[in-house]
Amino acid sequence: MPARIIPVAAFDYVVFGATGDLTARKLIPALYYRFKDGQFDTNSRIIGVSRSNWDDKKMQQVARQAVTDRVAPADIEKKLLDDFVSCFSYIPNDVTDADGWAELSAKLRKDPGIVRAFYLAVAPNLFAPICEYLSKKSYWRRDARVVLEKPLGRDLKSSQAINDAVAKVFHEDQVYRIDHYLGKETVQNLLALRFANAMFEPIWNRAHVDHVQITVAESVGAGTRGYYDESGALRDMVQNHILQLLCLVAMEPPASDDANALRDEKLKVLRALKPITRENIDRVSVRGQYKGLSSENATVASYQEELPADKKGSRTETFVALKAEIENWRWAGVPFYIRTGKRLATRVSEIVIHFRDVPHSMFANAEGPLRANKLVIRLQPDEGVKMFMMIKDPGPGGMRLREEHLNLSFSDAFEERTPEAYERLLLDVIRGNQTLFMRRDELEAAWAWIDPIREAWDDSPESPQSYTPGSWGPSGSVALIERDGRTWHEEGDF
Ligand code: BG6
Repeated sequence: MPARIIPVAAFDYVVFGATGDLTARKLIPALYYRFKDGQFDTNSRIIGVSRSNWDDKKMQQVARQAVTDRVAPADIEKKLLDDFVSCFSYIPNDVTDADGWAELSAKLRKDPGIVRAFYLAVAPNLFAPICEYLSKKSYWRRDARVVLEKPLGRDLKSSQAINDAVAKVFHEDQVYRIDHYLGKETVQNLLALRFANAMFEPIWNRAHVDHVQITVAESVGAGTRGYYDESGALRDMVQNHILQLLCLVAMEPPASDDANALRDEKLKVLRALKPITRENIDRVSVRGQYKGLSSENATVASYQEELPADKKGSRTETFVALKAEIENWRWAGVPFYIRTGKRLATRVSEIVIHFRDVPHSMFANAEGPLRANKLVIRLQPDEGVKMFMMIKDPGPGGMRLREEHLNLSFSDAFEERTPEAYERLLLDVIRGNQTLFMRRDELEAAWAWIDPIREAWDDSPESPQSYTPGSWGPSGSVALIERDGRTWHEEGDF
């Protein structure tokens, strides 16, 4: 069945920081696909704003190039692409430049039917001055929207400062904080799996679930992004993406799909996370940093070698494993093991729900181990859901048990291309749907849990454990879960 396309109202999307990498890599290709599907037309405008001395022509060239580079050739049509790039224009403005602001004000259409959105893909220290300008009458409208890109702070205090600056100008219902994981199809599918099927919810609790594993592994390195060394895996991946996944797995069923109904439930999970502090940090956390690899087949630089001279010796972690616990009735005593890192064995994001063993086995004489059921939700790549279960190995020769799986592979089941997260998120802003965006209290609750972990690590004399590129992280990560008599789900098990 072809996807249902519902056109959105025409818009003026102002992208601050338009010359940056994110615009070319994510925003432009995503908008192209939405344009191609007829979700908006040339009555909509994308207005790039940045310090560089570009003009409309240059912005349009960049848009054309971004599509050519990132969209499948079969999806590019000349006329369509020409029309698409005609939606782009550019205003040079270094935020303090009155002329640039005047030009922007003249460009914004006054028609109240045209949705007005400001996308801040800039360093967070520019959020306050930009918002201050946007508070002026020629930009601000009660129904204007502001989109905030990460990093949304480095700790609770700095994220509060960002939120305060934005809140001086925009009401919370105008603010769209991006966590692109929430825009991923498979992440939204978690909601469908849990709440559009009756069979899981009765067993989705401590009585039936032994533990949960969340893995977000990347095979790429941290690269030379200056930002990463300031951030590290805990801030870059756990504070946002992984905690959001954990919330979707652990939250109570929201009463409706209203944005606040869902975000209220996520917030309760974040607030129920057991604090990780100096007292328990060594038992429940591991951090790592990849070393180099030099063999006949490959040479991979270590994290340290990738750093500029003034950053050498950095203790920034490129890998984290944590044992998180949720202190509420549903999940008391059920650990959530989470791990993420760069330069790991493969790129994979998945959630594994490990159910409890059968309470009693009648198969005393059967061959083969009796394994507990597992539900594996694969977010990327090879999106799908697998239910591991025990069956009788077919044929005579007594009762032999074997583990097999029921497989729902989305790539096999659906012919359509899986849309990128930004396609959904960019147009949800225009629709005015905040469901897949983080609310202020959620963001701050996540930081409140992360900060003591960060502080305990900073105070510790120990450095991150080193690990070999292409592995599953430092040995401490294996020890973390094995101490509890459990093991990480292996990639080959999917
Ligand atoms: C970003 C992080 O938020 O997510 C990156 O800053 C990371 O370090 C990326 O590589 C991973 O996203 P995805 O969609 O490729 O899983």
